[in-house]
Amino acid sequence: MKKLKIEGGHPLNGTVRISGAKNSAVALIPATILADDVVAIDGIPNISDVHLLKTLLQEIGGEVCIDGEKFIVDPKNMVSMPLPNGKVKMLRASYYLMGAMLGKFKKAVIGLPGGCHLGPRPIDQHIKGFEALGAKVTNEHGAIYLRADELIGAKIYLDVVSVGATINIMLAAVRAKGRTIIENAAKEPEIIDVATLLTNMGAKIKGAGTDVIRIDGVDKLNGCNHTIIPDRIEAGTYLIIGAASGGEVTVDNVIPLHLESVIAKLREMGIKIDINDDSITVNSNINKLKMVDIKTLVYPGFPTDLQQPFTTLLNKASGTGVVTDTIYGARFKHIDELRRMNAKIKVEGSTAIIEGPTKLQAAKVRATDLRAGAALVAAGIIAEGVTEITGVDHIDRGYEDLENKLVGLGAKIWREDLTSEEIEQLQNL
Ligand code: EPU
Repeated sequence: MKKLKIEGGHPLNGTVRISGAKNSAVALIPATILADDVVAIDGIPNISDVHLLKTLLQEIGGEVCIDGEKFIVDPKNMVSMPLPNGKVKMLRASYYLMGAMLGKFKKAVIGLPGGCHLGPRPIDQHIKGFEALGAKVTNEHGAIYLRADELIGAKIYLDVVSVGATINIMLAAVRAKGRTIIENAAKEPEIIDVATLLTNMGAKIKGAGTDVIRIDGVDKLNGCNHTIIPDRIEAGTYLIIGAASGGEVTVDNVIPLHLESVIAKLREMGIKIDINDDSITVNSNINKLKMVDIKTLVYPGFPTDLQQPFTTLLNKASGTGVVTDTIYGARFKHIDELRRMNAKIKVEGSTAIIEGPTKLQAAKVRATDLRAGAALVAAGIIAEGVTEITGVDHIDRGYEDLENKLVGLGAKIWREDLTSEEIEQLQNL
């Protein structure tokens, strides 16, 4: 097991290339199950969630190879193997295997992970959708059992705007009989990406990216090539870290439209942003930043996934700021760690109140989830001294080549083995 060490106080400068979107990849890969021939996805990020999914597709009989950034799946010999336990439980997004296997085989058994550090993450809307399509869904000993004689298109109104439920219902509905209409659908760019792949495979989907999606089921889906969209959350993370460090950082290979809410907030803080066709440059070479409030919302609102790193940046601003997470009201585990680094933040319900500016000081901290990890890396970059971050496996789930990308921008960041005492401490948590 490793920890990250960061010597803070060095402004970052230069260009970083953004990888393919993690939250697309974890849906696109299960979507390949639905095809009857080879699917190749280009631009897949080299992150541990992708490697887990590769193993899961192989477990159900898929032939999978990763060739650089290309992820190639031959689904011809896949079977509806039950996956009640094992690796499937290590990945929250393994719920997409439910929609894909139900769509293809009309049955699936998928074990799901328990609680997580963002608070409760129910999947009732996914299940409501599957049931509306005609599936019988039961929860037996922590695994979800889905079976249907046939899937029949239906009108499904989502009570909560959910990225996962929208994609999962789409995955099952593309091979249902007749028309499915998803109302109050989520509009995230990752949903459009999955719909684009499915359409390339021969699916009939209209309205992805709006709040009403219409799907006409087809009998067969073919193989195809697809290029994944860039990771807007990774891009936002580097913009935030660059801004916090007081340097000039360009994120390359991005779709600026996907980051409008984040760009608006950075500008509101007094940070200079230049936008080109597929790159964004942040320049915050100023001492005092203006404090802002943040409220996370569904797309195109401010993304919950960037709330945590943005909170770190707000420590550099003057005044009092209020951060409210309306998507995951308990996504504040990073705050305890930031407080160890001298941050003046208190949490009340789903709101964090920040007093700034504060000079962060290095400390030993623990990443409890992926974006908490990003928040702590940002904190380490700007803190005085050498910060040590454990829980690096969370960061590796979603950030490709984090150290090398940061080193390329001039950061002093490296990995070291954990001491036996640190391993024991982590095991006792
Ligand atoms: N919700 C329900 N019932 C459901 C589904 C969701 O009540 O059946 C609630 C959730 O509890 C939450 C809200 O609806 O309050 C939105 O959840 P959503 O379903 O949209 O989240 P998700 O699909 O499980 C994805 C990303 C998350 C990201 C959220 C919100 C993936 C694999 N995960 O999760 O990404 O935070 O959308 O944008 O796409 C991350 O990348 O660090 C991450 C956690």
